[in-house]
Formats: sequence, C-alpha cells, structure tokens
Amino acid sequence: MQEFYPLIKHIHVGAVLASGGFFLLRGLWMMQESSLLTTKFARVVPHVIDTVLLLAAIALIVFLGGVPAWVQVKIAALFVYIFLGVLAFRLAKGYGARVLAFFLALSVFAFMMSVAITKSPWGFLGKFL
Ligand code: HEM
Repeated sequence: MQEFYPLIKHIHVGAVLASGGFFLLRGLWMMQESSLLTTKFARVVPHVIDTVLLLAAIALIVFLGGVPAWVQVKIAALFVYIFLGVLAFRLAKGYGARVLAFFLALSVFAFMMSVAITKSPWGFLGKFL
C-alpha cells in the first residue's frame, strides 16, 4: 500500500493548486461583479476539487499513521480559510468587506502552502521569528 503514497501526494498537491487557482478566479469574478460567479459551474466545481483535496489528505494521514504539528496547523488554518471564503463569496455585506475577506483568505492559503512546504507549524512566519 505504501507505494501509493507518492501518487496520493500528487493528487493532493494537484487538488491544492486547482483549489487555489479556482479560488483566485472566483475572487476576480467577485471583484468585477461578474455574473459568472453565480453560475452552477462556479458553485459546484470548488466542492468537487475540495472533496478530492480532503480525501487525499485523509489518505496521507492514514499512511503517515499520525498527525504531525505542521499538519495540525494546516487543518486549523483550513477552517479559517473556509470561513473567510464564505464571508468573501456569501455573507459579507458590501464590496469592501468582500474584497478584504478575499485577500485575507488568500494570505491564509499562502500560509498553508508555506506550512506544507517547510513542514514547520510556523510556515513563512518562521522567517520573522
Ligand atoms: C485537512 C487538511 C490537510 C491535511 C490533513 C493535509 C495533509 C498533508 C500531508 C500528510 C502531506 C504529505 C507530506 C509529505 O509526505 O511530504 C501534505 C502535503 C502537502 N499539502 Fe496538505 N493537507 C491538508 C490541506 C492542505 C491545504 C489546504 C494545502 C494548501 C493550501 C495543502 C498543501 C500541501 C502541499 C503543497 C503539500 C506538499 C508539500 C511538499 O512536500 O512540498 N494541504 N498535506
């Protein structure tokens, strides 16, 4: 089974890039107040990508046989990212608040990427400590 680890990791990273790319695209549509944002495609695709991302993540955890500190931080940050995304695309009232939530979400995404790449709970913040 262990031989599947690299494949699942590739699926995870591929889904991460697709998820981030689509988030960025939706943010651009939001800022342009484009009707594309409300299409069925724009609403369904992120759920499909994020399901693949999470299933692959769970499989990696099972393979690793534990949840290291850097992955725990990534999971916590994921909740913050999801919350900010809901604010940006649904709940926030007013253009300014939506744009602010979107850029905060992007920052959290960049942080999660840096945590994954450095495998340190501090991610890029470690550079400033
Ligand atoms: C529940 C959520 C998540 C869990 C449990 C999880 C878990 C993991 C695990 C176990 C690895 C494999 C580490 C290795 O063997 O090298 C990994 C890799 C990675 N994850 Fe996640 N992940 C999650 C979400 C995310 C998110 C939201 C992002 C991006 C924003 C992300 C980005 C990455 C990247 C870029 C790698 C590859 C790192 C490298 O080796 O350079 N993950 N993740």
